[in-house]
Amino acid sequence: MSTTATLEIDGKKYNLPIVVGTEGERAVDVSTLRAATGHITLDEGYGNTGSCKSAVTFIDGEKGILRYRGIPIEELADQSTFIETAYLIIYGHLPTSAELQRFSDLLTENQNLHEDMKYHFNGFPPNAHPMAILSAMINANSCFYPGLMGPEVRNEFDIHVARLISQVRTIAAFSYRKSRGYPYIYPKRDLKYTANFLHMMFSQPYDDYKLIPEVVHALDLIFLLHADHEQNCSTSTVRMVASGQANLFASAAAGVCALWGHLHGGANQAVVEMLQQIYDSGDDGSKFITAAKDKTSGKRLMGFGHRVYKNHDPRARIIKKACDDILVKLHINDPLLDIAKRLEEVALRESYFIERKLYPNVDFYSGIIMRAIGIPVEMFTVMFAIGRMPGWIANFKEIMEEKQSRIYRPRQVYIGPVNQTYVPRPQRKPRTV
Ligand code: CMC
Repeated sequence: MSTTATLEIDGKKYNLPIVVGTEGERAVDVSTLRAATGHITLDEGYGNTGSCKSAVTFIDGEKGILRYRGIPIEELADQSTFIETAYLIIYGHLPTSAELQRFSDLLTENQNLHEDMKYHFNGFPPNAHPMAILSAMINANSCFYPGLMGPEVRNEFDIHVARLISQVRTIAAFSYRKSRGYPYIYPKRDLKYTANFLHMMFSQPYDDYKLIPEVVHALDLIFLLHADHEQNCSTSTVRMVASGQANLFASAAAGVCALWGHLHGGANQAVVEMLQQIYDSGDDGSKFITAAKDKTSGKRLMGFGHRVYKNHDPRARIIKKACDDILVKLHINDPLLDIAKRLEEVALRESYFIERKLYPNVDFYSGIIMRAIGIPVEMFTVMFAIGRMPGWIANFKEIMEEKQSRIYRPRQVYIGPVNQTYVPRPQRKPRTV
Protein backbone atom coordinates (compact mmCIF):
# COMPACT_ATOMS: atom_id res chain seq x y z
CA MET A 1 0.00 0.00 0.00
CA SER A 2 1.19 3.47 -0.71
CA THR A 3 3.04 5.38 1.98
CA THR A 4 2.16 8.83 0.71
CA ALA A 5 -0.95 10.60 -0.53
CA THR A 6 -0.77 13.16 -3.29
CA LEU A 7 -2.73 16.36 -3.11
CA GLU A 8 -3.04 18.67 -6.08
CA ILE A 9 -3.80 22.35 -5.59
CA ASP A 10 -3.73 24.80 -8.50
CA GLY A 11 -1.89 22.29 -10.64
CA LYS A 12 0.88 21.74 -8.10
CA LYS A 13 1.28 18.33 -6.45
CA TYR A 14 2.19 17.78 -2.80
CA ASN A 15 3.12 14.47 -1.19
CA LEU A 16 1.75 13.88 2.27
CA PRO A 17 2.93 10.95 4.40
CA ILE A 18 0.47 8.23 5.40
CA VAL A 19 0.69 7.19 9.05
CA VAL A 20 -0.39 3.62 9.87
CA GLY A 21 -1.58 2.60 13.34
CA THR A 22 -0.94 -0.78 14.96
CA GLU A 23 -4.44 -1.96 13.98
CA GLY A 24 -3.90 -0.87 10.38
CA GLU A 25 -5.75 2.45 10.65
CA ARG A 26 -4.44 4.85 8.02
CA ALA A 27 -4.18 8.63 8.30
CA VAL A 28 -2.89 11.29 5.94
CA ASP A 29 -0.46 13.41 7.95
CA VAL A 30 -1.30 17.02 7.10
CA SER A 31 0.95 18.63 9.70
CA THR A 32 3.09 20.32 7.02
CA LEU A 33 0.15 21.26 4.78
CA ARG A 34 -0.20 24.92 5.67
CA ALA A 35 3.51 25.63 5.54
CA ALA A 36 3.77 23.89 2.17
CA THR A 37 0.53 25.02 0.50
CA GLY A 38 -0.98 27.90 2.51
CA HIS A 39 -4.11 25.76 2.98
CA ILE A 40 -5.54 24.15 6.08
CA THR A 41 -7.99 21.25 6.33
CA LEU A 42 -11.59 21.92 7.37
CA ASP A 43 -13.45 19.19 9.24
CA GLU A 44 -16.26 20.62 11.32
CA GLY A 45 -17.05 18.31 14.24
CA TYR A 46 -13.71 16.49 13.64
CA GLY A 47 -15.40 13.43 12.07
CA ASN A 48 -12.31 12.78 9.90
CA THR A 49 -9.60 14.25 12.03
CA GLY A 50 -7.10 12.29 14.10
CA SER A 51 -6.10 14.78 16.78
CA CYS A 52 -3.31 12.65 18.24
CA LYS A 53 -1.61 9.27 18.29
CA SER A 54 -2.69 7.31 21.35
CA ALA A 55 -1.91 3.84 22.70
CA VAL A 56 -4.80 3.62 25.16
CA THR A 57 -7.99 2.47 23.42
CA PHE A 58 -8.88 1.02 20.04
CA ILE A 59 -12.34 1.20 18.51
CA ASP A 60 -13.46 -0.27 15.21
CA GLY A 61 -16.86 1.34 14.85
CA GLU A 62 -17.77 -0.63 11.72
CA LYS A 63 -17.14 -3.98 13.40
CA GLY A 64 -18.32 -2.97 16.89
CA ILE A 65 -14.92 -3.60 18.52
CA LEU A 66 -13.65 -1.87 21.67
CA ARG A 67 -10.33 -2.76 23.30
CA TYR A 68 -8.51 -1.15 26.22
CA ARG A 69 -4.74 -1.53 25.70
CA GLY A 70 -5.48 -4.29 23.19
CA ILE A 71 -7.79 -6.33 25.46
CA PRO A 72 -11.41 -6.78 24.28
CA ILE A 73 -14.01 -5.07 26.44
CA GLU A 74 -15.95 -8.35 26.66
CA GLU A 75 -13.00 -10.09 28.37
CA LEU A 76 -12.48 -7.25 30.81
CA ALA A 77 -16.21 -7.05 31.61
CA ASP A 78 -16.22 -10.78 32.25
CA GLN A 79 -13.01 -11.16 34.25
CA SER A 80 -11.72 -7.84 35.54
CA THR A 81 -12.81 -5.14 37.98
CA PHE A 82 -13.03 -1.41 37.52
CA ILE A 83 -9.90 -0.78 39.56
CA GLU A 84 -7.80 -3.40 37.80
CA THR A 85 -9.02 -2.01 34.46
CA ALA A 86 -8.24 1.53 35.62
CA TYR A 87 -4.67 0.41 36.29
CA LEU A 88 -4.48 -1.21 32.86
CA ILE A 89 -5.73 1.93 31.14
CA ILE A 90 -3.45 4.31 33.02
CA TYR A 91 -0.24 2.27 33.22
CA GLY A 92 -0.59 0.29 29.99
CA HIS A 93 -0.48 -3.28 31.35
CA LEU A 94 -2.47 -5.57 33.62
CA PRO A 95 -1.09 -5.28 37.16
CA THR A 96 0.57 -8.12 39.03
CA SER A 97 -0.94 -8.89 42.42
CA ALA A 98 1.70 -6.73 44.11
CA GLU A 99 1.09 -3.80 41.73
CA LEU A 100 -2.65 -4.04 42.21
CA GLN A 101 -2.24 -4.16 45.98
CA ARG A 102 -0.05 -1.06 45.93
CA PHE A 103 -2.55 0.77 43.71
CA SER A 104 -5.40 -0.29 45.96
CA ASP A 105 -3.49 0.85 49.08
CA LEU A 106 -2.81 4.22 47.47
CA LEU A 107 -6.50 4.62 46.68
CA THR A 108 -7.40 3.81 50.29
CA GLU A 109 -4.77 6.16 51.74
CA ASN A 110 -6.02 8.99 49.55
CA GLN A 111 -9.75 8.52 49.74
CA ASN A 112 -10.52 11.24 52.26
CA LEU A 113 -11.02 14.79 51.11
CA HIS A 114 -9.21 17.57 52.93
CA GLU A 115 -11.63 18.41 55.77
CA ASP A 116 -11.88 22.04 54.61
CA MET A 117 -13.42 20.86 51.34
CA LYS A 118 -16.65 20.33 53.28
CA TYR A 119 -17.08 24.10 53.57
CA HIS A 120 -17.07 24.34 49.79
CA PHE A 121 -20.01 21.95 49.57
CA ASN A 122 -21.96 24.22 51.89
CA GLY A 123 -21.81 27.03 49.35
CA PHE A 124 -23.92 25.18 46.77
CA PRO A 125 -27.71 25.52 46.74
CA PRO A 126 -29.55 22.23 47.48
CA ASN A 127 -30.75 21.88 43.89
CA ALA A 128 -27.32 22.40 42.30
CA HIS A 129 -26.64 19.86 39.55
CA PRO A 130 -24.10 17.31 40.83
CA MET A 131 -22.04 17.68 37.62
CA ALA A 132 -21.52 21.38 38.45
CA ILE A 133 -20.49 20.42 41.98
CA LEU A 134 -18.22 17.64 40.71
CA SER A 135 -16.28 19.80 38.26
CA ALA A 136 -16.00 22.69 40.74
CA MET A 137 -14.83 20.43 43.55
CA ILE A 138 -12.27 18.53 41.47
CA ASN A 139 -10.82 21.87 40.47
CA ALA A 140 -10.98 23.23 44.03
CA ASN A 141 -9.24 20.08 45.22
CA SER A 142 -6.12 21.09 43.29
CA CYS A 143 -5.70 24.03 45.71
CA PHE A 144 -4.96 21.54 48.49
CA TYR A 145 -2.09 19.91 46.62
CA PRO A 146 0.41 22.58 45.61
CA GLY A 147 2.71 19.90 44.13
CA LEU A 148 0.18 19.54 41.33
CA MET A 149 1.05 22.90 39.91
CA GLY A 150 4.74 22.44 39.27
CA PRO A 151 7.07 20.18 37.31
CA GLU A 152 7.46 17.91 40.36
CA VAL A 153 4.04 16.45 39.46
CA ARG A 154 5.94 13.79 37.49
CA ASN A 155 7.54 12.46 40.69
CA GLU A 156 4.27 12.30 42.54
CA PHE A 157 2.11 11.29 39.61
CA ASP A 158 0.98 7.98 41.11
CA ILE A 159 -0.24 9.72 44.24
CA HIS A 160 -2.13 12.38 42.29
CA VAL A 161 -3.70 9.64 40.15
CA ALA A 162 -4.80 7.77 43.27
CA ARG A 163 -6.18 10.97 44.79
CA LEU A 164 -8.21 11.77 41.74
CA ILE A 165 -9.64 8.29 41.19
CA SER A 166 -10.40 7.82 44.86
CA GLN A 167 -11.65 11.30 45.68
CA VAL A 168 -13.89 11.74 42.64
CA ARG A 169 -16.03 9.04 44.24
CA THR A 170 -15.98 10.77 47.62
CA ILE A 171 -16.90 14.12 46.04
CA ALA A 172 -19.71 12.49 44.05
CA ALA A 173 -21.18 10.85 47.17
CA PHE A 174 -20.85 14.05 49.23
CA SER A 175 -22.61 16.08 46.53
CA TYR A 176 -25.53 13.66 46.68
CA ARG A 177 -25.62 13.81 50.49
CA LYS A 178 -25.53 17.59 50.36
CA SER A 179 -28.43 17.70 47.87
CA ARG A 180 -30.53 15.53 50.23
CA GLY A 181 -29.50 17.34 53.39
CA TYR A 182 -27.93 14.15 54.76
CA PRO A 183 -24.73 14.12 56.87
CA TYR A 184 -21.57 13.20 55.00
CA ILE A 185 -20.51 9.58 55.35
CA TYR A 186 -16.77 8.98 55.35
CA PRO A 187 -15.17 6.14 53.36
CA LYS A 188 -14.24 2.92 55.15
CA ARG A 189 -10.79 1.38 54.88
CA ASP A 190 -12.01 -2.18 54.52
CA LEU A 191 -14.39 -1.62 51.61
CA LYS A 192 -13.39 -1.96 47.97
CA TYR A 193 -13.84 0.94 45.56
CA THR A 194 -17.43 0.50 44.36
CA ALA A 195 -18.75 -0.90 47.63
CA ASN A 196 -17.21 2.08 49.41
CA PHE A 197 -18.94 4.46 47.03
CA LEU A 198 -22.33 2.84 47.69
CA HIS A 199 -21.60 3.03 51.43
CA MET A 200 -20.83 6.77 51.21
CA MET A 201 -23.97 7.34 49.15
CA PHE A 202 -26.51 5.35 51.12
CA SER A 203 -25.35 4.60 54.67
CA GLN A 204 -26.60 6.70 57.57
CA PRO A 205 -24.56 7.42 60.70
CA TYR A 206 -26.91 5.12 62.60
CA ASP A 207 -27.46 2.52 59.88
CA ASP A 208 -24.95 0.94 57.50
CA TYR A 209 -26.15 0.39 53.93
CA LYS A 210 -26.50 -3.32 53.26
CA LEU A 211 -24.22 -4.17 50.39
CA ILE A 212 -25.63 -6.69 47.91
CA PRO A 213 -22.76 -8.29 45.90
CA GLU A 214 -24.76 -8.25 42.64
CA VAL A 215 -25.51 -4.53 43.06
CA VAL A 216 -21.84 -3.77 43.73
CA HIS A 217 -20.88 -5.83 40.70
CA ALA A 218 -23.43 -4.10 38.42
CA LEU A 219 -22.16 -0.63 39.32
CA ASP A 220 -18.53 -1.75 39.08
CA LEU A 221 -19.32 -3.04 35.59
CA ILE A 222 -20.87 0.30 34.61
CA PHE A 223 -17.68 2.07 35.75
CA LEU A 224 -15.52 -0.43 33.85
CA LEU A 225 -17.51 -0.11 30.62
CA HIS A 226 -17.16 3.68 30.74
CA ALA A 227 -13.46 3.70 31.64
CA ASP A 228 -12.21 4.96 28.28
CA HIS A 229 -13.46 5.55 24.77
CA GLU A 230 -10.64 7.17 22.81
CA GLN A 231 -10.99 10.74 21.52
CA ASN A 232 -14.56 11.55 22.52
CA CYS A 233 -15.71 15.06 23.43
CA SER A 234 -14.59 14.99 27.08
CA THR A 235 -11.29 13.14 26.55
CA SER A 236 -10.34 15.51 23.74
CA THR A 237 -11.18 18.36 26.11
CA VAL A 238 -8.90 16.89 28.77
CA ARG A 239 -6.08 16.60 26.23
CA MET A 240 -6.72 20.12 25.00
CA VAL A 241 -6.54 21.60 28.51
CA ALA A 242 -3.55 19.42 29.45
CA SER A 243 -1.69 20.48 26.30
CA GLY A 244 -1.58 24.02 27.71
CA GLN A 245 0.13 22.44 30.76
CA ALA A 246 -2.80 22.87 33.11
CA ASN A 247 -2.60 20.47 36.05
CA LEU A 248 -4.22 17.04 36.22
CA PHE A 249 -7.14 18.14 38.39
CA ALA A 250 -7.93 21.19 36.24
CA SER A 251 -7.80 19.04 33.11
CA ALA A 252 -10.12 16.43 34.67
CA ALA A 253 -12.54 19.15 35.84
CA ALA A 254 -12.73 20.38 32.23
CA GLY A 255 -13.48 16.80 31.18
CA VAL A 256 -16.41 16.69 33.61
CA CYS A 257 -17.86 19.87 32.07
CA ALA A 258 -17.47 18.48 28.55
CA LEU A 259 -19.15 15.24 29.59
CA TRP A 260 -22.20 16.95 31.04
CA GLY A 261 -24.21 17.59 27.85
CA HIS A 262 -27.08 15.40 26.64
CA LEU A 263 -25.32 14.32 23.47
CA HIS A 264 -22.39 12.96 25.49
CA GLY A 265 -22.43 11.73 29.10
CA GLY A 266 -25.74 13.41 29.88
CA ALA A 267 -27.45 10.94 27.53
CA ASN A 268 -27.91 8.39 30.35
CA GLN A 269 -30.03 10.89 32.26
CA ALA A 270 -31.83 11.91 29.07
CA VAL A 271 -32.68 8.27 28.27
CA VAL A 272 -34.47 7.65 31.56
CA GLU A 273 -36.24 11.02 31.33
CA MET A 274 -37.36 10.09 27.80
CA LEU A 275 -38.59 6.65 28.92
CA GLN A 276 -40.44 8.21 31.84
CA GLN A 277 -42.05 10.76 29.53
CA ILE A 278 -43.17 7.98 27.18
CA TYR A 279 -44.56 6.00 30.10
CA ASP A 280 -46.37 8.99 31.62
CA SER A 281 -47.97 9.87 28.28
CA GLY A 282 -49.35 6.35 27.88
CA ASP A 283 -47.41 5.90 24.62
CA ASP A 284 -46.01 2.42 23.95
CA GLY A 285 -43.05 4.08 22.24
CA SER A 286 -44.50 4.22 18.70
CA LYS A 287 -45.38 7.93 18.87
CA PHE A 288 -41.94 8.73 20.19
CA ILE A 289 -40.23 6.80 17.40
CA THR A 290 -42.28 8.76 14.85
CA ALA A 291 -41.24 12.02 16.52
CA ALA A 292 -37.57 10.96 16.67
CA LYS A 293 -37.60 10.44 12.89
CA ASP A 294 -39.08 13.88 12.31
CA LYS A 295 -36.33 16.52 12.31
CA THR A 296 -38.84 19.30 13.11
CA SER A 297 -39.92 17.63 16.37
CA GLY A 298 -36.65 18.47 18.11
CA LYS A 299 -36.64 14.93 19.53
CA ARG A 300 -34.01 12.22 19.21
CA LEU A 301 -34.09 8.67 20.40
CA MET A 302 -31.70 9.18 23.30
CA GLY A 303 -29.25 6.32 23.87
CA PHE A 304 -29.21 5.60 20.15
CA GLY A 305 -26.54 6.44 17.62
CA HIS A 306 -22.84 7.07 17.93
CA ARG A 307 -20.26 9.06 16.03
CA VAL A 308 -17.92 6.08 15.78
CA TYR A 309 -20.08 2.95 16.08
CA LYS A 310 -21.92 2.21 12.87
CA ASN A 311 -22.72 -1.22 14.24
CA HIS A 312 -23.69 -2.39 17.73
CA ASP A 313 -21.91 -0.62 20.57
CA PRO A 314 -20.29 -3.65 22.30
CA ARG A 315 -20.83 -1.99 25.68
CA ALA A 316 -24.59 -1.84 25.04
CA ARG A 317 -24.80 -5.62 24.60
CA ILE A 318 -22.99 -6.22 27.89
CA ILE A 319 -25.04 -3.67 29.75
CA LYS A 320 -28.36 -4.98 28.40
CA LYS A 321 -27.59 -8.41 29.82
CA ALA A 322 -26.45 -6.89 33.14
CA CYS A 323 -29.68 -4.91 33.24
CA ASP A 324 -31.82 -8.04 32.87
CA ASP A 325 -29.75 -9.84 35.54
CA ILE A 326 -29.93 -7.13 38.18
CA LEU A 327 -33.67 -6.56 37.79
CA VAL A 328 -34.26 -10.29 38.26
CA LYS A 329 -31.94 -10.37 41.30
CA LEU A 330 -33.68 -7.39 42.91
CA HIS A 331 -37.16 -8.63 41.92
CA ILE A 332 -37.86 -5.35 40.17
CA ASN A 333 -40.37 -5.13 37.36
CA ASP A 334 -39.55 -1.79 35.78
CA PRO A 335 -42.02 -0.68 33.09
CA LEU A 336 -39.30 1.59 31.68
CA LEU A 337 -37.27 -1.51 30.78
CA ASP A 338 -40.21 -2.85 28.80
CA ILE A 339 -40.50 0.47 26.95
CA ALA A 340 -36.75 0.51 26.28
CA LYS A 341 -36.83 -3.01 24.85
CA ARG A 342 -39.80 -2.17 22.68
CA LEU A 343 -38.14 1.03 21.43
CA GLU A 344 -35.01 -0.92 20.55
CA GLU A 345 -36.99 -3.64 18.77
CA VAL A 346 -39.00 -1.14 16.73
CA ALA A 347 -36.05 1.13 15.95
CA LEU A 348 -33.88 -1.75 14.72
CA ARG A 349 -36.60 -2.61 12.17
CA GLU A 350 -37.18 0.96 10.97
CA SER A 351 -35.48 2.05 7.75
CA TYR A 352 -34.72 5.49 9.28
CA PHE A 353 -32.46 3.91 11.92
CA ILE A 354 -31.12 1.15 9.66
CA GLU A 355 -30.04 3.56 6.89
CA ARG A 356 -28.31 5.84 9.37
CA LYS A 357 -26.75 2.90 11.21
CA LEU A 358 -28.20 3.96 14.54
CA TYR A 359 -27.93 1.28 17.24
CA PRO A 360 -28.35 1.41 21.02
CA ASN A 361 -25.28 2.86 22.71
CA VAL A 362 -23.90 2.37 26.24
CA ASP A 363 -26.39 4.83 27.71
CA PHE A 364 -29.53 3.08 26.54
CA TYR A 365 -29.73 0.54 29.39
CA SER A 366 -27.26 1.87 31.98
CA GLY A 367 -29.83 4.27 33.45
CA ILE A 368 -32.26 1.45 34.15
CA ILE A 369 -29.60 -0.40 36.14
CA MET A 370 -28.71 2.73 38.10
CA ARG A 371 -32.40 3.41 38.78
CA ALA A 372 -32.79 -0.15 40.06
CA ILE A 373 -29.92 0.24 42.51
CA GLY A 374 -31.23 3.55 43.82
CA ILE A 375 -28.93 6.07 42.13
CA PRO A 376 -31.02 9.20 41.52
CA VAL A 377 -31.33 10.27 37.91
CA GLU A 378 -29.44 13.56 38.36
CA MET A 379 -26.42 11.51 39.51
CA PHE A 380 -26.28 9.31 36.38
CA THR A 381 -23.81 11.47 34.49
CA VAL A 382 -21.67 11.66 37.62
CA MET A 383 -21.43 7.85 37.49
CA PHE A 384 -20.16 8.18 33.92
CA ALA A 385 -17.56 10.71 35.11
CA ILE A 386 -16.33 8.41 37.89
CA GLY A 387 -15.98 5.62 35.33
CA ARG A 388 -14.27 7.79 32.71
CA MET A 389 -11.61 9.13 35.09
CA PRO A 390 -8.97 6.47 34.21
CA GLY A 391 -9.32 7.29 30.52
CA TRP A 392 -8.92 11.01 31.13
CA ILE A 393 -5.87 10.35 33.32
CA ALA A 394 -4.28 8.03 30.74
CA ASN A 395 -4.74 10.66 28.04
CA PHE A 396 -3.34 13.37 30.33
CA LYS A 397 -0.35 11.10 30.96
CA GLU A 398 0.26 10.68 27.24
CA ILE A 399 0.36 14.45 26.84
CA MET A 400 2.66 14.82 29.85
CA GLU A 401 5.05 12.15 28.57
CA GLU A 402 5.24 13.40 25.00
CA LYS A 403 8.79 14.46 24.22
CA GLN A 404 7.79 17.28 21.91
CA SER A 405 4.38 18.12 23.20
CA ARG A 406 2.76 21.10 21.51
CA ILE A 407 -0.20 23.08 22.73
CA TYR A 408 -3.41 22.04 20.96
CA ARG A 409 -4.38 24.93 18.75
CA PRO A 410 -6.70 24.25 15.82
CA ARG A 411 -7.15 26.81 13.10
CA GLN A 412 -10.36 28.04 11.51
CA VAL A 413 -11.73 29.41 8.28
CA TYR A 414 -12.81 32.94 9.07
CA ILE A 415 -16.24 33.85 7.64
CA GLY A 416 -16.89 37.16 9.46
CA PRO A 417 -16.95 40.74 8.11
CA VAL A 418 -13.81 42.13 6.48
CA ASN A 419 -12.19 45.53 6.63
CA GLN A 420 -14.54 47.27 9.01
CA THR A 421 -13.72 50.59 10.68
CA TYR A 422 -14.46 51.72 14.20
CA VAL A 423 -17.59 53.95 14.20
CA PRO A 424 -17.85 56.36 17.14
CA ARG A 425 -20.95 55.64 19.25
CA PRO A 426 -22.99 58.80 18.36
CA GLN A 427 -22.68 57.98 14.66
CA ARG A 428 -23.91 54.37 14.92
CA LYS A 429 -27.23 53.62 13.23
CA PRO A 430 -29.83 51.31 14.84
CA ARG A 431 -29.58 47.83 13.34
CA THR A 432 -32.51 46.61 11.32
CA VAL A 433 -33.33 42.95 11.78
N1 CMC B 1 -32.33 9.76 17.06
C1 CMC B 1 -32.78 10.15 15.82
N2 CMC B 1 -31.97 10.49 14.81
C2 CMC B 1 -30.66 10.43 15.03
C3 CMC B 1 -30.11 10.03 16.27
C4 CMC B 1 -31.00 9.69 17.30
N3 CMC B 1 -30.54 9.31 18.49
N4 CMC B 1 -28.76 10.08 16.22
C5 CMC B 1 -28.46 10.50 14.97
N5 CMC B 1 -29.61 10.70 14.25
C6 CMC B 1 -29.69 11.07 12.83
C7 CMC B 1 -29.37 12.55 12.62
O1 CMC B 1 -30.53 13.35 12.69
C8 CMC B 1 -28.76 12.51 11.24
O2 CMC B 1 -29.79 12.38 10.30
P1 CMC B 1 -29.64 13.04 8.80
O3 CMC B 1 -28.45 12.35 8.20
O4 CMC B 1 -30.92 12.75 8.15
O5 CMC B 1 -29.40 14.50 9.05
C9 CMC B 1 -27.97 11.21 11.23
O6 CMC B 1 -28.66 10.36 12.16
C10 CMC B 1 -26.51 11.36 11.66
O7 CMC B 1 -26.52 12.00 12.95
P2 CMC B 1 -25.43 13.03 13.45
O8 CMC B 1 -26.04 13.91 14.49
O9 CMC B 1 -24.80 13.71 12.27
O10 CMC B 1 -24.40 12.05 14.08
P3 CMC B 1 -23.23 12.44 15.04
O11 CMC B 1 -22.17 11.46 14.83
O12 CMC B 1 -22.89 13.88 14.91
O13 CMC B 1 -23.89 12.28 16.51
C11 CMC B 1 -24.65 11.35 18.50
C12 CMC B 1 -23.70 11.19 17.31
C13 CMC B 1 -24.31 10.29 19.55
C14 CMC B 1 -24.45 12.72 19.15
C15 CMC B 1 -26.11 11.19 18.00
O14 CMC B 1 -26.29 9.90 17.46
C16 CMC B 1 -27.14 11.46 19.10
O15 CMC B 1 -27.53 12.62 19.30
N6 CMC B 1 -27.59 10.40 19.86
C17 CMC B 1 -28.47 10.60 20.97
C18 CMC B 1 -27.65 11.06 22.19
C19 CMC B 1 -26.85 9.92 22.78
O16 CMC B 1 -27.35 8.82 22.98
N7 CMC B 1 -25.57 10.21 23.11
C20 CMC B 1 -24.68 9.26 23.78
C21 CMC B 1 -23.58 8.77 22.88
S1 CMC B 1 -22.74 7.33 23.58
C22 CMC B 1 -21.98 7.92 25.00
C23 CMC B 1 -20.90 8.90 24.71
O17 CMC B 1 -19.94 8.53 24.01
O18 CMC B 1 -20.99 10.01 25.20
